[in-house]
Parts: sequence; C-alpha cells; structure tokens
Amino acid sequence: MSASLEEIRLHGAIPRHVAVIMDGNGRWAGERGLPRHAGHRAGMRAVREVIEGAVEAGIDILTLFAFSTENWQRPPSEISALMGILKIYAEKERRDLVRQGVEVHVLGEVDRLDGVTRSAVEGIVQGTAGGENLRLNLMISYSGREEIVRAARRLSEAVRSGSVDPEDITEAALENELFTAGLPDPDLLIRTSGELRVSNFMLWQLAYTEIHITKVLWPDFSREDLFAAVLDYQRRDRRFGRVPAS
Ligand code: FPP
Repeated sequence: MSASLEEIRLHGAIPRHVAVIMDGNGRWAGERGLPRHAGHRAGMRAVREVIEGAVEAGIDILTLFAFSTENWQRPPSEISALMGILKIYAEKERRDLVRQGVEVHVLGEVDRLDGVTRSAVEGIVQGTAGGENLRLNLMISYSGREEIVRAARRLSEAVRSGSVDPEDITEAALENELFTAGLPDPDLLIRTSGELRVSNFMLWQLAYTEIHITKVLWPDFSREDLFAAVLDYQRRDRRFGRVPAS
C-alpha cells in the first residue's frame, strides 16, 4: 500500500463523495503537438486511475464531469471524438468495472446523445448495476444551472397539477428533483489544470464542498494525485457556516 493511502486510512475521515472537473486534455495534447482528441483519449487512462484509487481509498461516490451542456458548442469533430471515446469507454471498461464492484450512473440530458453513444452508455449502466464498492456518476450533457431550472420546472408542474403546495417547496423538495436526488453532496471537489472556476458544475450541491485545485493536467492525473487531494481534504476544518466545535 502506498504511504499516502496508509495515511488516509489512519486519519479515517474518508470523503464519502468526491466530484472531479477533469480539465486540461486540450493543453496536454497541445504541449505534445497532438490534436485535442488525443488529449481526451489519454484522459481515459486517468479516469481508470481515479476509479481504482477511489475504490482503494474507500470513497463511496465518485462524480466525473465528462461533458458539459456548453461542450455541445465545440467543433463537430471534437464532439464526435468525445462521443466516440465515451462509447469506447462504455464498451471496453464494463467488465473491469464489474470486477471492481463499480456501479455506473449517467446524469444529464442523455437524450441529447446520438443513438449509438446513448445505447453504449445505457449498456454500461445496466451492465454494472448492483456494484457495491463505488457509485460512479458520469455527468454527460450536464449543466448546473440547467439542472436547477429543470427542478424548478418539475416542481411548478406539480404545483399546477395540485399535488404540491407552494409552501411545500423546501430545499429538500428541490433537491429531490435534481439529477443527484437521494445522494449526499460532494465532500470534496477536485479540479485539474489549475483553473480557479466551478464552470457550471453542481452549483446547488457544492454549497459546502471543500475544493482542491491541482495544476496537473487531467491526462497526467494519477491515483497518487487523488490521494494527495484526499489528504488535503483531511486537513480542512469543515464548519458548514458554524463556529468551530470547542
Ligand atoms: C476538459 O478538457 C475535458 C473535457 C471536455 C472532457 C473530459 C473527457 C474525458 C476525460 C474523456 C474520458 C471520459 C470518460 C468518462 C470516459 P479541455 O478539453 O477543456 O482541456 P483544455 O482546457 O486544456 O482545452
């Protein structure tokens, strides 16, 4: 076992839910004179690493920002490369994810995916159902603001049909309409490539999340980088807006 993993286990406060903004694939490729899609392909290796690391560290939920609603505005060639990578990932990794006890969920506007990618993605969700070691949320065609608007729309429809009273619209009621309904909020958000932004990711859920930014570009991210982020998290004093406990 690596020294950092040992230290994480000794500390004991394992983040239950870790979310990741996987950034820097394009720059990684650019530094090597490669096309952007080569960076996304290399990013698949890092996805494998972070999943294995999460299972080893005993994290319960890992949420990866794989494709944002805004990413639909990228050039068609890059979008189709990303869709191709998602399809290859879904087909190639299924058996390995089952072996590790990983249950995959896909959150986002999945109906915007082309038929082939969508059925590959649905295949990995069905094929990994029942995995008990790690819940992996792949956020695909996801936007935090859109998610909140969608929840507001669903609640408004319930009010209109008479099944919900406006006074019953609480934080819990809204949370219940998010893609992440029923899941605890992330304890830790990791963003790679040094950018200091949230980029429309899990805007509701990140209210009290600890943020760890690393300069490492996503394709270079290793399980040791995940462990370093968890160790950083374990040094934080989480107060949730309250005063420190005496
Ligand atoms: C951001 O880098 C990354 C993305 C838009 C896509 C993330 C996708 C992967 C890591 C591919 C594999 C994913 C799965 C779930 C199999 P960027 O292109 O914005 O990089 P840049 O900021 O350097 O241009």
